[in-house]
Amino acid sequence: MTTTSKVLSGVLVVIVLAATSLAVAISHTSACGPAPTLAPAQPMRAAVHRCYGSPDVVRIETLAKPIPSDHELLIRVHASSVNPYDWHMMSGEPYLLRPSSGWGAPLDVSLGKDFAGTVEAVGKLVTRFKPGDEVFGLGSGAFAQYLRSPDSTVVMKPANLTFDEAAAVPIAGLTALQGLRDQGQLRSGQKVLINGAGGGVGTFAVQVAKALGAEVTAVTNSGSLELVRSIGADHVIDYTHEDFTLRPEKYNLILDLAGNHPLSAYRRVLTPDGTYVIAGDISKGSWTGPVASLGKTLVVAKFVKQKLVAFIADINQADLATLADMLQTGKVKPVIDRRYPLEQIAAAIRYQETGHARGKVVVTVD
Ligand SMILES: NC(=O)c1ccc[n+]([C@@H]2O[C@H](COP(=O)([O-])OP(=O)(O)OC[C@H]3O[C@@H](n4cnc5c(N)ncnc54)[C@H](OP(=O)(O)O)[C@@H]3O)[C@@H](O)[C@H]2O)c1
Repeated sequence: MTTTSKVLSGVLVVIVLAATSLAVAISHTSACGPAPTLAPAQPMRAAVHRCYGSPDVVRIETLAKPIPSDHELLIRVHASSVNPYDWHMMSGEPYLLRPSSGWGAPLDVSLGKDFAGTVEAVGKLVTRFKPGDEVFGLGSGAFAQYLRSPDSTVVMKPANLTFDEAAAVPIAGLTALQGLRDQGQLRSGQKVLINGAGGGVGTFAVQVAKALGAEVTAVTNSGSLELVRSIGADHVIDYTHEDFTLRPEKYNLILDLAGNHPLSAYRRVLTPDGTYVIAGDISKGSWTGPVASLGKTLVVAKFVKQKLVAFIADINQADLATLADMLQTGKVKPVIDRRYPLEQIAAAIRYQETGHARGKVVVTVD
């Protein structure tokens, strides 16, 4: 063996050892830590996960009521809703998330993002909200009686909406709105296909696309065909009987919430200048999960004429306000499949995780 090949072999061994150590470290899951034993002066009930795992690791514990900082609101939560995001945070999968969510165990033991509730107190620099306001938005730890949230991710709840309905909106509504209007540049009269139309994001997407003046084709399973028709879909395709990528129709835009076809198949049913937008997929791979499909879309986009886009929803107040207007005027109405009390949060996450909820799964907090 020459000196060069000895050095190269040594470097290769070091790289393999480093990659293996990183893989072991990133995929390591620690045992659940204990709950705190001191009783807080101002207690509340909250869902907590002190380790990564299935919904079985989620417990209801008594924690201290949060204290809002200068730019935050203290919200008394009336309802929340479950998103695939909560499952990712609970399970710590894909592992790629763990450098930010916590190696081995979650850095943030709380769960839940979407909420609707009443403002209980405001930080000293908050001017837009006051105690008693009925609001909805996003914060951390929404599966709880109280949460603190930045005032920039909250808007007033339209009076015609119940708290349950408002809690169904934030992540799913923003994803639908931004996927169609911003990423997809959907214009009136265009043909859009929504793959995954019967789920949380999909039921908002059908209605937002109609509100933007599009002709909507909704792809869903047999059990949700009537539902998507009832919220405005012009055409429906049952994916258990037919593969839409083999049909002759072409679409200006495909909003993909299932990611269950190859990119080449989606491109075949796009117009030559059409746009494909993927927000997520149904794969539950431990290592990369939906990140692989999103990444692949971005790479292929560099080499083809049609526009291919992968995106993560941007949490912002302006778009929450746009959704509030659409809800107020009745252009959009949240579709709620099931409601679970906070105490049954594990069952709520388990049901959402099936990937076949018809609309949103709401968690009610008394
Ligand atoms: N990028 C972002 O910022 C962002 C934000 C929110 C959500 N997401 C992602 O978007 C996706 C949808 O979210 P969601 O809240 O709507 O979840 P969801 O309510 O669980 O919906 C999942 C959808 O996938 C469809 N589906 C499941 N199995 C299928 C199959 N074998 N073939 C075709 N379709 C299938 C379901 O259709 P049926 O009900 O008809 O079976 C349903 O419409 C998830 O992957 C989520 O992670 C991304």
